[in-house]
Formats: sequence, C-alpha cells, structure tokens
Amino acid sequence: MPEAPRIVVLRLGHRPARDKRVTTHVCLTARAFGAERVLLSTHDVEIERSVRGVVAKFGGEFVVETGVPWRRVLREWPGTVVHLTMYGEHVDDVLPRIHGGDLLVVVGAEKMPRDVYERADFNVAVGNQPHSEVAALAVFLDRCLAGQGLRRPFPGPMRIVPSRRGKVVDKTL
Ligand SMILES: C[S@@+](CC[C@H](N)C(=O)[O-])C[C@H]1O[C@@H](n2cnc3c(N)ncnc32)[C@H](O)[C@@H]1O
Repeated sequence: MPEAPRIVVLRLGHRPARDKRVTTHVCLTARAFGAERVLLSTHDVEIERSVRGVVAKFGGEFVVETGVPWRRVLREWPGTVVHLTMYGEHVDDVLPRIHGGDLLVVVGAEKMPRDVYERADFNVAVGNQPHSEVAALAVFLDRCLAGQGLRRPFPGPMRIVPSRRGKVVDKTL
C-alpha cells in the first residue's frame, strides 16, 4: 500500500471581519478529511485559538499557522501544488496525474491573484460551478485519499463513539 501523501492546505485571502466562520470550517474540514496542517496568509489569533481548542479536545497532530508569507510558501513548496478553483480541470481528470509526494492544496476566500493559477501544477475544479471552498476541499481530500482520511484515528481526550442514536462520547479529560 503506498504511503499517504503529506497534505497541507494554504488558505488565501482570509478577511478576519468576514471569513472567520468559513475559515474555521476550512481548518476543521482539512483536519477531519486528512490534511496535517493549514497555513493562513492572514494573521488571526482567534482562528488559531478555536482550531487549537478542537485539537486539544478531539486529538491528533493537526497544526494551524496564521500570518504565513504565502508567496514564499508557494515558491518553495517541494511537492505538488493543487489550486482548487471552479475554472480548473475536473478533479477526476487530474487525480490520476498526481503521483505521491507532498501536496499543497490552495483554497481562496476572494478573487485569487493570477500568479496562483500560474504557479499551481494543477488548477482543479470540483465541478465547474461556483460553490464553497469548504465543499471543494472536502470532496478533493476525500477523493485524493480514497476515503481513508475519514478513517484515521484521532487519539485525544474526547472520542466520539459511533452510535445509532444519541451522542456517546468517551472522555478522559
Ligand atoms: C466561494 S469562492 C469565491 C471566489 C471568488 N469570488 C473568485 O472570483 O475567485 C472561494 C473559493 O472556493 C473554492 N471553490 C469554489 N467553487 C469551486 C469549485 N467549483 N471547484 C473548486 N474550488 C472551488 C475556490 O478555492 C475559491 O477560491
């Protein structure tokens, strides 16, 4: 079985006054679906605090960093850069052309600068219709990891026990 790729998400254009909720959801979706880290171009301590709170409770090694020099990250990324955009090629046409290695997945909040399209190895559309960065990221990660992102264990002080009804949580807090 090939080793799962190291996946990092780069979130560009986050506006703290408008995008807090969606960016938090980008981070939680990245974590839940198999990415190991989110890099945010904008500095935002509230996002850091809320995502780290979830990690502290529900476990895993997920990291969020804000205020990163995103052009340098793009320039120096050693592996494949995927930019999620409705203008790109269909996700299922691109995935067979990605061959392992570190993966940087770029999602936007507002209009993306032209150089992101040019730097990306693949501009990938999850359907060629406008929708949401959260939906695009979830579908991309799930297909990229063939569903295995959702099967990873999250060792932590709170563990949700799947149940038919009700809410069952194992707590060691
Ligand atoms: C809600 S959109 C706003 C985009 C912005 N208005 C523009 O003109 O580029 C925010 C992000 O969602 C993602 N996105 C939206 N629809 C997508 C699609 N069909 N496929 C892939 N990514 C998509 C892209 O990463 C985009 O930068």
